[in-house]
Amino acid sequence: MTTQFHLGWFMGFSPDEWNEPFANGGAPWDGGFYVEMAKALERACFDFMMVEDTLMVSEAYGHSREVYLKHALMAPKHDPAPLAALMTAATRHIGVVTTMSTMAYPPFMLARLCSTLDHISGGRFGWNIVTTGENASAQNFGMDELPPREIRYDMAEEYLDLVRQLFGSWDKDAVVMDRETGYYADHGKVRTIDFNGKYFKCRGPLNTAPSPQGRPAFFQAGGSPRGKDFAAKHADAIVAVGNGVAGMKKYREDIRSRAVKAGRDPDAIKIFFCITPTLGETEEEAKAKHARMINSDRFIEQSLAFIAGVTDIDFSAFNLDEPLPHMTTNGEQGSLDKFAQWGSGKTLRQLVIEASGGLVSSFELVGTPDQVATKMGEVMEEVGGDGFLITSPSLRMSRRYIIEVTDGLVPALQRKGLVRSAYATSTLRETLAEF
Ligand SMILES: Cc1cc2nc3c(=O)[nH]c(=O)nc-3n(C[C@H](O)[C@H](O)[C@H](O)COP(=O)(O)O)c2cc1C
Repeated sequence: MTTQFHLGWFMGFSPDEWNEPFANGGAPWDGGFYVEMAKALERACFDFMMVEDTLMVSEAYGHSREVYLKHALMAPKHDPAPLAALMTAATRHIGVVTTMSTMAYPPFMLARLCSTLDHISGGRFGWNIVTTGENASAQNFGMDELPPREIRYDMAEEYLDLVRQLFGSWDKDAVVMDRETGYYADHGKVRTIDFNGKYFKCRGPLNTAPSPQGRPAFFQAGGSPRGKDFAAKHADAIVAVGNGVAGMKKYREDIRSRAVKAGRDPDAIKIFFCITPTLGETEEEAKAKHARMINSDRFIEQSLAFIAGVTDIDFSAFNLDEPLPHMTTNGEQGSLDKFAQWGSGKTLRQLVIEASGGLVSSFELVGTPDQVATKMGEVMEEVGGDGFLITSPSLRMSRRYIIEVTDGLVPALQRKGLVRSAYATSTLRETLAEF
């Protein structure tokens, strides 16, 4: 029996490839490049595109902005919400998920923006709920430093409670548009929420009409025990970087048992594991391409700067040819643990090379479209579900990479009956729940 699985794509509103031999981009700021990408992914019947976001120009690597700006790494990065409007206006089926931080958006503005985008997209909008993990971002919002993770999740719990109440402040049928009585909306079906919490206070009601999904699809990526509980309680879909096939299976089982404890049906949550396939006409060609990428000085510097940016640890301070000392972070602890392979005795250089795939690869996938499709099917069978979140191994997007996936890998998956060949639903939450 084949296990059919879902596909999503992880990207950012950042420069596409600009200095590779086949690159011709670097300034996608009118949104055209990503609109074109959305159309290509819709042709391949992806469930959704997820647009990541952070709110800073990092200085974590070498106490300087130099490496980040040199490689356009994490900056420049533009606001994903207007891009979501453009992408959904140009498509009809694919979902668009944007990242918005509970630290940065006042809850009322977040609920209003989500409702507006859910309308514009005809019910295809999702919110990636993040609490933010970097001091440099917190300092852009009036704080001297990031609150500890526990407090961030306390705030996020209260935030979710509030925005759910705002989404519920209008009954579904509150807009009546009754020509006879002259009523556009029935005021008896719209209520204040009078929310008065520890961190947030909001009177309500929301001032937007009820959207097609009622609320956006909720996405999350909890890595810590607290984060996993939060995701298991609230998320329609979870994105994660698995630690090999065994790690993926363990993570999925962990989330599903937390969901049961939270009183939810575990099948109502779809878990997407990050992968970064490297594809070639032949296996040799794919391997050569992969080796060329991970051994370049540029890749090593970019990978270290990236992991520094999400952990607030200055990796420029360590010798590349020695093992790392044990460390913890108030940022992305899971990413740090996976990267550092504590106790392995490996040098920093070895760790970076092994973390090939931009630190977001759950397991290695290098080969022809047919080989990679077969491997994806085998892994999904072992893990038990639910989907893969594809992203480019070089931390950069190019038309060529997108086409290799949409016109090489996806058709191979479709021939094996592993992914959908046509959309059967219209809203993002329905698409996620299709199988
Ligand atoms: C695939 C993936 C995508 C993520 N995208 C973002 C993002 O766009 N912005 C952000 O601030 N954090 C992002 N995160 C970080 C998570 O929101 C979360 O903080 C992290 O996984 C650590 O878990 P914890 O918060 O439970 O410690 C992402 C994590 C993963 C695994």
